[in-house]
Amino acid sequence: MNRIIETENLYFRYKNLEILVDVNFYVSSGEFIGIIGPNGAGKTTLLKILVGLLAPSSGKIRVFGRDPQLLGKNRHLVGYVPQANEADKNFPITVREVVALGRYHEKGFFTNLNAEDFKIVESSICKMDIENIADKQFNALSGGQKQRTLIARALAQKPSLLILDEPTAGIDVKTQVSFYQILKKLNQEGITIIMVSHDIGALTKEVSRIVCLNKKLHIQGCPADIMKSKYLKKLYGYDVLLLTHEGKENDNEP
Ligand SMILES: Nc1ncnc2c1ncn2[C@@H]1O[C@H](COP(=O)(O)OP(=O)(O)OP(=O)(O)O)[C@@H](O)[C@H]1O
Ligand SMILES: [Mg+2]
Repeated sequence: MNRIIETENLYFRYKNLEILVDVNFYVSSGEFIGIIGPNGAGKTTLLKILVGLLAPSSGKIRVFGRDPQLLGKNRHLVGYVPQANEADKNFPITVREVVALGRYHEKGFFTNLNAEDFKIVESSICKMDIENIADKQFNALSGGQKQRTLIARALAQKPSLLILDEPTAGIDVKTQVSFYQILKKLNQEGITIIMVSHDIGALTKEVSRIVCLNKKLHIQGCPADIMKSKYLKKLYGYDVLLLTHEGKENDNEP
């Protein structure tokens, strides 16, 4: 299958601190990948390198065959939704306007949106199931609604790859289920997805491959194999499997 991301011996350091060590990571077109690892493991740092916000200290990286900082016209192919923060708290803008911002990624900032762009904006709103809040102020939304809006904005770029950093953080279980259904559908429609999450139980049910990162890329594989691995306990320092929805069923450790 067509590899859209490849890293080779990737290192990232803040001053003398090693954050990512010798990471060899690849993603093929059409995959749905879950990245897990404890706080401070370097997950967000890796995503920022993949989208070109940070440059690696050493090693190689290719996204759609190019240095992610030099994607040029292909930049819109990578949709990125960062870890939630409180930035722009008082900026008055509606949900529809936030989603429309995604169109400028493909077209450039000094252009006008046309009828085709507005069609893409409405279809992105529809895909994320946020028609009912499209005229609301973004700042008045719940955390889950904000995340959906930001993903709709990324979809309005018409990306081939969607990179999501903890999109389900703080979302209740019922909302999470419908959220995963939407992501699954996007994946089936051909969008490759990379998603960081601490919600291992739900993640392992939905993704095709799990990658365990803690500075190094320790193990990766299909969810069933990863859940059986003794390594998970080592990675988190406690029995993660007890916290998943499968509970002890999958825990073959003494
Ligand atoms: N701007 C920065 N300056 C210095 N150190 C940083 C900076 N940003 C992140 N770090 C450090 O890099 C390490 C990895 O951070 P990163 O945000 O990638 O972790 P993470 O796996 O995403 O964690 P979390 O699960 O908490 O989101 C941490 O030790 C963090 O303190
Ligand atoms: Mg993070």
